[in-house]
Amino acid sequence: MSTQGSEKDRVVIFDTTLRDGEQSPGATMTHEEKLEVAALLDEMGVDIIEAGFPIASDGDFAAVHEIAKRTKKAVVCGLSRAGFKDIDRAAEAIKPARRGRIHTFISTSPVHMKWKLQMTPEQVYELVVAQVTRARNHTEDVEWSPEDATRTEPDFLCRCVEAAIKAGATTINMPDTVGYATPDEYYAMFRMVMERVPNSDRAVFSVHCHNDLGMAVANSLAGMRAGARQIECAVNGIGERAGNCSLEEVVMAMRVRNDVLPYDTKIDATMLTRASKLVSAVTSFPVQYNKAIVGRNAFAHESGIHQDGMLKHTQTYEIMTPESVGVKQTSLVMGKHSGRHAFVHKLEELGYHLASNQLEDAFVRFKALADRKKHVYDEDIEALVDEEIATAQDRIKLVSLSVIAGTRGPQRATMKLDIEGRVTTEEAEGNGPVDATFNAIKALVPHEATLELYQVHAVTEGTDAQAEVSVRLSENGRSVTSRGADPDTLVASAKAYLGALNKLMIKRQRGQLETVTAPQRRIHSTEAV
Ligand code: KIV
Ligand code: ZN
Repeated sequence: MSTQGSEKDRVVIFDTTLRDGEQSPGATMTHEEKLEVAALLDEMGVDIIEAGFPIASDGDFAAVHEIAKRTKKAVVCGLSRAGFKDIDRAAEAIKPARRGRIHTFISTSPVHMKWKLQMTPEQVYELVVAQVTRARNHTEDVEWSPEDATRTEPDFLCRCVEAAIKAGATTINMPDTVGYATPDEYYAMFRMVMERVPNSDRAVFSVHCHNDLGMAVANSLAGMRAGARQIECAVNGIGERAGNCSLEEVVMAMRVRNDVLPYDTKIDATMLTRASKLVSAVTSFPVQYNKAIVGRNAFAHESGIHQDGMLKHTQTYEIMTPESVGVKQTSLVMGKHSGRHAFVHKLEELGYHLASNQLEDAFVRFKALADRKKHVYDEDIEALVDEEIATAQDRIKLVSLSVIAGTRGPQRATMKLDIEGRVTTEEAEGNGPVDATFNAIKALVPHEATLELYQVHAVTEGTDAQAEVSVRLSENGRSVTSRGADPDTLVASAKAYLGALNKLMIKRQRGQLETVTAPQRRIHSTEAV
């Protein structure tokens, strides 16, 4: 595989936003959204896209398969447990890829082997050989991971790694599955394995760090220092529990501090902001304001002293420029007189490539927005197009909403929905206009899901700014989050609630399939083979 054996300090970026990232509770993405994210990752220069876990559901399989078909440059990878059915399904899913990889894993730590797998170390060892051999019969590019490597007994870890390489694994990924290691420990584990395992020079070593103690990026860099040359990471650091190593942080750390972290990647850093916004939009996970690199305050200077310094010389308080990570300085753009040509140009500038029907819909919605809002900013267009992508496959769509609100209650909402092509109307009262709106949805689409989060923020400044609403619903332990944007807060609220219901429908379908195929997919860290 061509990512192997490249020049000494070239680091391979393995993005797992669509696999480990999508396993974040509430981060479900639709098929279309996954394709959109994969296309952006490919364009951005990610080397390997872990597109999903094909055995988990027909939806996961279809996404990996379609991404494998469409991806132009990156290797497309499918995850599998140790069972042969898992491995064969992953192989099937990546078949159309120009370059495909199977990533197969099994737990090797005492606690996982005893309680999760209920297997002896010898049984696990035999499975390591069998799983890698099986995967290798399908493709030359096989990655093997000893899950919970950082809590694995060193001799056993070395034995398993040696066996996996002998059986044909070309990448060895040693995950800090529970986010427990410190940078020194993680460094030492890589040194120990690479020095003790006689055939270690025949594989690329890889880091995969979780952020439970906030050390995922530091641990990943420590692994590089020890000799690993692949980093598994996710946009915005999404992933199981506290998440994975953040792609934008680890890439920019290596770029800005190349003097002490002399590693190169192929990532086009000017696309990092766009990637962050897209992933945030499709998962409806907000990006923390002070998040490094992509937070909205990452380049904001508030105090007088800092502002004064910045005016005199930007390097006084800036270690990288906002432009270097794709932050646009001027964002005032268009209004109701802007035509289709200008709109298409703007979309290209913002990094969107829409299909012609999506473009048409987006343009109509842009015109409608420009009629209501004097200045349309980049952020407005991004919210509008992200919503276009997110709702393309929705089975329930908002047709119209009118609400009577004010000091004299009760507030009333009249709503018309298109539910799989059937248009129905309902009226409902509530304790306030949002409650009335949500009650109208419940009357039209009866469900048991509970509202766990309702949050509103303004996309830009000014009283005519679009409201962006996030809604999280949960049902039978499954949770989904969705966002809606509109100059009318109540319409944005309805869109967000309906978006979450649409995602819940996808989850319900997956749930049915999961009971047949992979009952423990959503709790990947406790999976049995
Ligand atoms: O965290 C982990 O151990 C994983 C493996 C499947 C690589 O995600
Ligand atoms: Zn993980």
